[in-house]
Amino acid sequence: MSPAASVVTIELEQPGHGPQIDALAEAAFGPGRFAKTAYRLRRGTVPIPDLCFVALADGRLIGSVRLSPITIGGTPALLLGPLVVDPDYKNRGHGLALLKASITAARQAGHRLIILVGDAPYYARAGFRPIPRGQVRLPGPVDPDRLLALELVEGALAGATGMARPAPAEASTPLSIPCGGERGEEQNQSGESGQQRQRPDTAQNGRLGRLQPDPVAAVK
Ligand SMILES: CC(C)(COP(=O)(O)OP(=O)(O)OC[C@H]1O[C@@H](n2cnc3c(N)ncnc32)[C@H](O)[C@@H]1OP(=O)(O)O)[C@@H](O)C(=O)NCCC(=O)NCCS
Repeated sequence: MSPAASVVTIELEQPGHGPQIDALAEAAFGPGRFAKTAYRLRRGTVPIPDLCFVALADGRLIGSVRLSPITIGGTPALLLGPLVVDPDYKNRGHGLALLKASITAARQAGHRLIILVGDAPYYARAGFRPIPRGQVRLPGPVDPDRLLALELVEGALAGATGMARPAPAEASTPLSIPCGGERGEEQNQSGESGQQRQRPDTAQNGRLGRLQPDPVAAVK
């Protein structure tokens, strides 16, 4: 079905989605992504299952966003990424809908701060702002203009200063279900394969619901 005619839903990532997400990331970022500083930071941890979402177009995976636990100078925070949407489906609001789903879930779960490395003009649409230069260090080079934060609790950024490090999954997530690994290597460790994971507060079938005609406007 053509992108224009597809019904797109935003749903929780399932353990079997890993290879499709990796294929999207490979197409968008290429093999060089593993050398990127954000990837290096994520490599030391596991995404939080309840905060990872996919966009499905008539059941086919066309987008993904993940949140991983980190600390910044010892203060807990989340690292967002990768965010990726199939080019055939771009500019239809799916990227921002994925962002909005993960941000809402993180806020509901009691997290206080999200950071990411990305294009400021895009992420500003979801409320991300540049982090003051020098406040947060990453384990590799990063353009300071692309180091962004979103406070889920007012004032949370002020309490996060220093080196960002991966946080151990078992210490920072209430669930031990990994999202499919970026290379698929973390898959099927949950014992949940074949089952749909559902947040208790999402609608039936784990769906957040069909996208509204203008989901971009909802997060601008
Ligand atoms: C960036 C990406 C996630 C956007 O997904 P999407 O579903 O096309 O985005 P949306 O439909 O929600 O938003 C589209 C709008 O954002 C703008 N936009 C897209 N990418 C942008 C960027 N890098 N910088 C600034 N604006 C951007 C579009 O021009 C469009 O603007 P409009 O609403 O004024 O027409 C997608 O293009 C993608 O996967 N790119 C490759 C991977 C990537 O760069 N990921 C982000 C890491 S920084």
